[in-house]
Order: sequence, then C-alpha cells, then structure tokens
Amino acid sequence: MKYLILSDIHSNKEAFSAVLSFVRRKPWDKVCFLGDLVGYGANPNQTVDLLRSVRPVVAIRGNHDKVCSGIEQGELFNRIALEAAMWTRKKLTRNNLQWLKGLPQGPVVVDKTFAICHGTPIDEDAYIFGEIEALNVFRHTDFPVCFFGHSHFPVIFALSPDAITTILTVAPSFRFRLREGVRYLINPGSIGQPRDGNPLASFAIYDSDSRVVTIHRIAYRIEAAQGKILKAGLPRPLADRLAVGR
Ligand SMILES: [Fe+2]
Repeated sequence: MKYLILSDIHSNKEAFSAVLSFVRRKPWDKVCFLGDLVGYGANPNQTVDLLRSVRPVVAIRGNHDKVCSGIEQGELFNRIALEAAMWTRKKLTRNNLQWLKGLPQGPVVVDKTFAICHGTPIDEDAYIFGEIEALNVFRHTDFPVCFFGHSHFPVIFALSPDAITTILTVAPSFRFRLREGVRYLINPGSIGQPRDGNPLASFAIYDSDSRVVTIHRIAYRIEAAQGKILKAGLPRPLADRLAVGR
C-alpha cells in the first residue's frame, strides 16, 4: 500500500496544488494528513476543499486548525499567527469550519501499520525538534513507525536497541528504507510553509510493502501565494518567509 503523507499545508493553495499535480503521475492508494490545513496563507477554503477532494483515509487536526475553527482561542499563539487565525476563522465557510472542527486528535493508527500525530503522539501541541524530544516520545510510546508534523522540518529519527540517530533528508527526492527492529519518528516536512531553509513544498510517500519512505520537494508558484497573502492584508512576514523557507 502506498500512502501520501501530507502535513502543514497552511492555506497555501499554490503549494498544495503543485503537490497534487506532481503525484498525479505517481501511484498512490491512500492519503493521510497530519494537521494544520489552515492558518497563515490566503486560501483556507480552497485548501480544505482540495484535501476533502482526495478523501483522506485519516486526517487529524493541528494547533492552527483548532484556533481557526474556534475550538481554542490561541492564547499561546504569537501576534502574527493569531491575526492570521482570526482572519481565517472569518473567511471559512460554515461547512468547512464544521469539517475542521470535526477533525480528530492524534495519534491515530492507520491500517494497523503506522501511527500519525500532529506534534507528538503524547501531546498534539508539543514539538519534536531533536533527539532529546524524540527519545522522550520513543520511551513513552510503542509505535514502531509514527509520522509527525508541526515543526515544518523534514527529518527521520531512528531508535535501534543501542542508539538514536537523526537522518536529515536531502532535496529534491530522498529515499530511505526502514529497517526491521528499528523504530522511527518521521516528519514529511511542510507543504505550505517549510522551515528548513528550503522553500520547496515538502511531503512524503510511504510504501508499506517495501517499507520505503520517499520525501519529495516540489517547486510551486511562491510569488503567487505571497501576492495573495499581501492582497488579503495578512502580515507581511507570512509572505516573506515563503521565499526563504524559514
Ligand atoms: Fe504547522
């Protein structure tokens, strides 16, 4: 079974459309979404519609989905994120807002094969930045393979019986075969707002039969997404950061 693993789309229709047109030429069976469909970008309804159109087998909520849909009020958000979330809440159609509100909290186990979560499987709002956080998650969970998002940084953490290893991915297409007896935490990166210094949209395909993860980086019309953000009156740093992937 081949899974598209999508995360942190953040209302960036240009990036999401580019990913979907890229995978039109690749075989895949099911879509999993790791949260943060909206917030930051200028096309919240279009990105919700696009994700719904590919009928994800599992889609979970992110922290921005919670604040944009009104489940939470964003007390912990910075000023820019909060401003974008309140703008998004006003723009969302009633139907899309209800759909976002109904997204489940992770972790969710997909086809008894792997788990997905937004931040971590312990706390959906917490981050896994490095090996210390990854080790804590490995110690307190028992998923052999878990995909996570939230940090917008594509990376693989591997726990073998004697060591934890960080595997940095290499653009534009990074292929990695999972080994037996090793546990993995895998971040496919962000489609709509990468933060690893590479502005290309990032996502993963996981082939559960061959146990191969491929992380792809896709070019998209960044200037068009930036132009929409500025035209909508959203904070300028949200447009600027798309060009540098920070
Ligand atoms: Fe995010």
